[in-house]
Amino acid sequence: MRKQIAAANWKMNLTFQQAEKLIDDVLDANIMLSSNQLVLFAVPYPYLLMTRSDVEDEYNYEVAAQNCHHEKSGAYTGEVSAGMLHSIGVNYCIVGHSERREYFGETNTMLAEKINLCLGNKIVPVFCCGEPLAVREAGTQNNFVAKQLADSLFHLPAEIIRGLIIAYEPIWAIGTGKTATSEQAQEMHHHLRSVIARQYGTAVANEVPILYGGSVKANNAKELFGCADVDGGLVGGASLVAADFIEIIKALK
Ligand code: PGA
Repeated sequence: MRKQIAAANWKMNLTFQQAEKLIDDVLDANIMLSSNQLVLFAVPYPYLLMTRSDVEDEYNYEVAAQNCHHEKSGAYTGEVSAGMLHSIGVNYCIVGHSERREYFGETNTMLAEKINLCLGNKIVPVFCCGEPLAVREAGTQNNFVAKQLADSLFHLPAEIIRGLIIAYEPIWAIGTGKTATSEQAQEMHHHLRSVIARQYGTAVANEVPILYGGSVKANNAKELFGCADVDGGLVGGASLVAADFIEIIKALK
């Protein structure tokens, strides 16, 4: 069975003290994950080491970065490289979140470079794709996301693709409280899987976890995660409340 993943994306929220308490509260729930389940905490850079050491002894709980730079190293004041993340034991990194694309001008080409650097540093990228509202309203979302995948991922060989994590996050559903319906999510996830299958074959496509993101909450996670092609969620707002994120973890297949 494909990995089923609950990924918390804290974004730029919480003090260190609040972060420690949130991790403790989630771990104190003692949710035993099965071998096909994974929980990721994508925390701000200054909290990576603390989070890593908190989850170190927990089975299938892992820390993730929210971003890395698209160059290996150099004069980029304020930036963090994939190599730095690797050197502190971070094994996962979100790449191409729509907020990065929108506010920091990240392009599909730049994201391909980030993906390469992550992979070169043994970091599993959680690659985000998803369409803005105007594209959804024009009905061209399928081509839009297929191009995001093709431009940033399809230079990679099949054996690498099968180890990636993809997150579909319709931009109109992020932080808006407006969730895609489970039918919309399933339809798009199925489309994404078929785009991967066309390029790499069905066996590879069936191995790639595709997470849904965009207003996943404690009360809709079960229905969303119940869809055949939805392999968990990338969760923003609801991951900041321990009780809510705990319910979301419990909703994993
Ligand atoms: P949200 O954010 O759950 O607050 O909509 C999801 C995300 O941006 O990853």
